[in-house]
Amino acid sequence: MISKDIVEAIKYLKEGGLVGIPTETVYGLAANAYNPLAIKKIFDLKKRPLNNPLILHVHSPEVLKEIASNIPQRAFDLASEFWPGSLTLLLEKQSHVPDLVTAGHSTVAIRIPNHPLTLELLSQLDFPLAAPSANPFSRVSPTTAEQVEKYFGSKIPMVLDGGASKVGIESTIVGIYEDETVIHRLGGIPLEQIERVVGKVKLKTMNDHSPEAPGMMKKHYSPLTKLLLVESIDTAIKKYQTEKIGLLLFHEDRTQYSHYQRLILSTDGSLENASKELYQSMIQMDEMNLDLILVEKFPDVGLGRSLNDKLKRAASN
Ligand code: TXA
Ligand code: MG
Repeated sequence: MISKDIVEAIKYLKEGGLVGIPTETVYGLAANAYNPLAIKKIFDLKKRPLNNPLILHVHSPEVLKEIASNIPQRAFDLASEFWPGSLTLLLEKQSHVPDLVTAGHSTVAIRIPNHPLTLELLSQLDFPLAAPSANPFSRVSPTTAEQVEKYFGSKIPMVLDGGASKVGIESTIVGIYEDETVIHRLGGIPLEQIERVVGKVKLKTMNDHSPEAPGMMKKHYSPLTKLLLVESIDTAIKKYQTEKIGLLLFHEDRTQYSHYQRLILSTDGSLENASKELYQSMIQMDEMNLDLILVEKFPDVGLGRSLNDKLKRAASN
């Protein structure tokens, strides 16, 4: 059921049920973070391996001190700059945070999402919400309530409808350690903006199988159709005989390819709009029964770097 009723959402969450929640990045599949039975339902429903930890969503920075310990000043600096927003902090966890949520790690991932409905929901709960993206394991993350409903339908009692996600890709995950700051996952807040606040950061690359973040695996966010991230569509397209090609275009249409399916991500040419449309467009093309989806690399700076990272993962089928 898709609904805007917060009271209803609170009822299900307090009972230990799962609710699809809107955030500015992507929709989450939420449960009471302090109820291990509820958390277990998330892993089961997503078919997510138990070694892949979840992000806790809270409504105020004050809550940080109740969940994390030994918090370096850099965490507060980033929080005050970007929260509510698309930044997830990895910090040392307090012992009462269930091991199931953190997959046995000594760190916990926390963020304040920037969505009015979900902030209102969180402020009325006396527990944080653990919420991974609301997609079956390794599928494309949903950015609308309707897509969550398509993925999970009757298997969850409710999806809270907050409209289309404005950022459209996941949060940037930043590990704050005693002597370094590490970006574990590129996302809605560009790397350059993080560095403006805390100075030079280390970036985990796609091929790092870091034990801290088992979820940052290479294959991720994938459509079922083969997707290729290419330097130039004009060059790449010549290699294929099939007509069943879809082009995901940044901002300019390529009318010379009128016999192929084409979707334009950002009519105004902004990376923000491309980011907002990317996942839903991937899902849309996936439903067109194509042999291949081609996407051209974005300029590799700012949000473009995050988009390229998401696409590289989508392409590594
Ligand atoms: O934008 C987002 O972050 C969305 C919305 C719903 O908030 N959530 C999201 O969650 O993308 P999920 O579960 O799809 O991705 C969370 C990532 C996983 O790759 C997981 O491995 C990592 O965060 N993570 C969570 N807790 C961690 C921890 N304690 N240490 C290392 N990595 C962690
Ligand atoms: Mg996810």
